[in-house]
Order: sequence, then structure tokens, then C-alpha cells
Amino acid sequence: MAFDFIVTSLQQRRSDSLYRQRQSITALSATGITVEGRPYINFASNDYLGLAQSDQLKQAWQDATELWGVGSGASPLVTGYSAAHQALECRLAEYLQREAVLLFNSGFAANQAICQGLMAQGGYIIADKLSHASIIDGALASNGKLQRFAHNDVSHLQRLMNKSADNKLVVTEGVFSMDGDVSPLKQVSQCCADHNAWLMVDDAHGFGVLGEQGMGSAELQQLPQNQLPVLMATFGKAVGTAGAFVAGSQELVDYLVNSARHYIYSTHMPAAQAVATLASIELIRSQSWRRDKLRSNIEYFKTRANQLGIALMPSDTAIQPVMVGDPDRALQTSRALKQAGFWVTAIRYPTVPQGTERLRITLSAQHEVPALDELLIVLAKVVQHGD
Ligand SMILES: Cc1ncc(COP(=O)(O)O)c(C=O)c1O
Repeated sequence: MAFDFIVTSLQQRRSDSLYRQRQSITALSATGITVEGRPYINFASNDYLGLAQSDQLKQAWQDATELWGVGSGASPLVTGYSAAHQALECRLAEYLQREAVLLFNSGFAANQAICQGLMAQGGYIIADKLSHASIIDGALASNGKLQRFAHNDVSHLQRLMNKSADNKLVVTEGVFSMDGDVSPLKQVSQCCADHNAWLMVDDAHGFGVLGEQGMGSAELQQLPQNQLPVLMATFGKAVGTAGAFVAGSQELVDYLVNSARHYIYSTHMPAAQAVATLASIELIRSQSWRRDKLRSNIEYFKTRANQLGIALMPSDTAIQPVMVGDPDRALQTSRALKQAGFWVTAIRYPTVPQGTERLRITLSAQHEVPALDELLIVLAKVVQHGD
């Protein structure tokens, strides 16, 4: 029968403990989540600064709908590109000290567009082994060849760089989404310079939280445009809205406007979303207390976890995973935490390599110490004794 594989694939996933199910959330606050009528403390969100529920941003979005309505009505090259989108692009370019910025509806689309656009004439995409699925899929769907270097291993990257191709794009993440560690961008960018390659950084989890002004890995590691020609980040995490941007040279942006199918053939994000996103970027820059609070929560969490004998992965960011090592156990520990009132996601293959299944705990500036303490006490019990 046609498409028989659907049933067998679902059965296989169930028997491997890899079956995915959505949970319909009925209420969401900065650190709380209600699922099927039960409230939990949320340790699974990427809303690192607590901005998704900011009254100021809600108001900015609401006010903008009075002027712009709720939808953009067309793709950007038709009539979907407004002064609101332009203002966000210009402000971001100024803050990031880039010539130009281009907005995308999602980070997934932006990564696909970059990989496919820059590999139009062939070449190599040399990506960190732990790069996000959108980068890998973008590379596989491009005219380039994909090679992967061992995670954060600059000497392995160096060995892969001896290609004669004109166009080599090295891709990595500023902060790795499932591990929380950071890329040694200075060394990676030096390696690119030595081999006439371009560096692209996906800073989905660094933008907003890293750097004095919150402008992410490029600010923290002081990488100007000539050392980091393609910077991409999303708005769906610390910024608290949705969508993404690519920042780089005016030629890069003009090229994408003229060729990126994900950009040209997709209805643009609502202008009100761009207005709220810009308001968020201004808050990110001016309210450094949010980053300070997040940092202090991270430090507290790590110190207490250590005292309680909980083995965390080596991360100094808001992403604090606990390795569990197999999918069944990841589900069981996540369920045990839920029973105790904490929402923590079990991350399984193929999101992470087989055998590295984990709990992905994410911290926010909105968490308070008592909640961290409560989680850690339950976590110690669940992880160490398997209760
Ligand atoms: C590293 C990374 N890149 C890209 C994306 C995709 O971004 P978006 O959710 O805006 O599609 C995500 C997660 O969603 C991510 O974690």
C-alpha cells in the first residue's frame, strides 16, 4: 500500500522511546506553564530574559496593529516590506556594526537561505558537528558539499580546510542549542582568514544574552564584519518574539533579496511583530539588569548543583543540560520532574546524537532562587536515585 512506511515509522519510534507528542499549553507566564490544567514551573523555555511576557512589548505590538493591522499581506518584494521592517533592520545594523540586515520569518528559513544562496556556484560548507538541523538541511539542499568538523575542534576544522574550492563557508553556532557551550569564534575566524573562507555564525542562543549590550557572540568576542561576514540570529529566544535576521555586507543582503527563495516567496512577518521586536531590542540594550540576573541565576544554579553532586554539562550559559544517556531514562526523569511540578524537556535522538539523551534545563532572568533550589533538590533525587 502507498505510504505504508508511515505506520511502521511511527511504531518504530514508539518502541525506541523516540516518539514525539505535542503538549497543548493553556497558560504561559515568564516562568510558569499550565498543561492540561496543571501549573508547572517552566525550565524549558528559551525566553531567557523573560521578555516574551513583557507588558511594554505587548503594548508595542498592540499599538502597532492600529497602524499596520495584524498581517503584512504580501511577500517583501510585493508589498510586505514596510517602514517598520526597515526601521528594525536599520537599528540592528547600527547596533551590530554591520552594513546591512535582512529579516526572515524564521531562523530555519534564514539558515536555509544562507546555505543555498552562498553555495549557488558550488563549494564547501564546513559545519560544526553539533550544528542545528536547519543548517545541516540547508547545506544538504544546496549545491555545495557538506563536511562536518568535530565539535569546537579548531584543529580538525583546519585539516578540513585544505580544499581548492573558491567558496568555503564555515558554519558554527555562537552558543550551542542543546549543549549550552560556546564556540571559540576568535580561533575559528582566524582559521577562516588563513584559508580564504567565510565564517557564518548562528547566534540564536547568544543574541540578547551575551555581550555588554546583549548583542551576542559577535559583541562578546569582538568580531567585526570582516571577520564574521555572515551573522544570523533569531528573535524567538531571548528577544521574545519570532523571526530572524541575517547581518553582513550590503552586497550579501542585496544578493539574498534578489535570490533567496525563502525570502522572496514567503509572506513577510507582520509589521507589528517587527515593531515589538525593535522595542525588545531597545529593552535588551537598556535593561542590562536582565542579563545580570540571568548570569547570577546561572552561577547560583551551577554552584548549588555542584554542592548537591549533580553532574551538569560544561556550560556557562542559560542552557544547562544534564546528560542521561538513553531515551527511556530521559523520558522517565522528565516525567518524574513533571510529577514534582517542574517542566523540563527530555531531548532525544535525532535532536542529539544517540546515547547523549539529556534533560535540557533552561534558566531565565525571571526565575527566583527558591524555584532553582526546589528544582535542584528534586533533580538530585531523580538523577541520582532514578526515583
Ligand atoms: C541554533 C538554532 N538555529 C536556528 C533555529 C531556528 O530558528 P526559528 O525557531 O526561528 O526557526 C533554532 C531553534 O529554533 C536554533 O536553536
